[in-house]
Amino acid sequence: MSKRLDKLVELIPECNSLADVGCDHGYVGIEILRQNKADDVTFIDVSQLSLDKARRNCPEELTDKVGFVCQDGLGNINVDCAVIAGMGGLEIIDILDRAVFPPHMLVLQPNRNAVDVRRRLARDYRIQYDRMICDGGKFYNMIVAELCNEPMQLTELQEEFGITNLLAPTEDFRLYLRTEQTKLTQILKGCNDPKVSGRLSLVEQAIAITGGLQ
Ligand SMILES: C[S@@+](CC[C@H](N)C(=O)[O-])C[C@H]1O[C@@H](n2cnc3c(N)ncnc32)[C@H](O)[C@@H]1O
Repeated sequence: MSKRLDKLVELIPECNSLADVGCDHGYVGIEILRQNKADDVTFIDVSQLSLDKARRNCPEELTDKVGFVCQDGLGNINVDCAVIAGMGGLEIIDILDRAVFPPHMLVLQPNRNAVDVRRRLARDYRIQYDRMICDGGKFYNMIVAELCNEPMQLTELQEEFGITNLLAPTEDFRLYLRTEQTKLTQILKGCNDPKVSGRLSLVEQAIAITGGLQ
């Protein structure tokens, strides 16, 4: 298990039923069952080859608590909680939009387009936790959200960086901001792209409100 996968397991709340959507190896759902954090786990993957990996990795003593479904997204599977990790943010949004039964809790880790994911969640979920972690030199957004009737109002900075990162910045988030600032400043030396300078301005605002780069 990597730091990223350990963090996903830690963030998944105790629940009756969990769906591991895009499970591939299935490590997250398997670890959840080992830790008794869910009564049952449905492993879902659009690829039969990936789903077979999860099936092979699943220890025999857990077989009465698991289901394996080869399909695109959640479909009409009804669970308390879904973890959707390691895929693009637009793919995650598409899965949420097509879910017949929106799960009460979501644990998401979009590989890109996290801003779009936050905007989508704000419509009918309350973001409870939204942090960046660094694992093996790569940065990952980890988002936990609960189904909610009221839309959530996010500022531009909250959409861009996540509420929890801004309220209580970790060393990993500060490292991300420093890395982004250096990268964008370097790009601006070679071109005068307003998109890049706009993004640098957001990064510098985040640096300022999180107490500067210590
Ligand atoms: C990179 S793996 C991530 C595996 C694991 N969730 C993780 O975070 O390490 C992405 C998996 O998502 C699956 N996938 C992509 N789009 C999907 C969809 N719409 N529905 C179900 N599975 C999907 C892929 O087949 C692949 O196995």
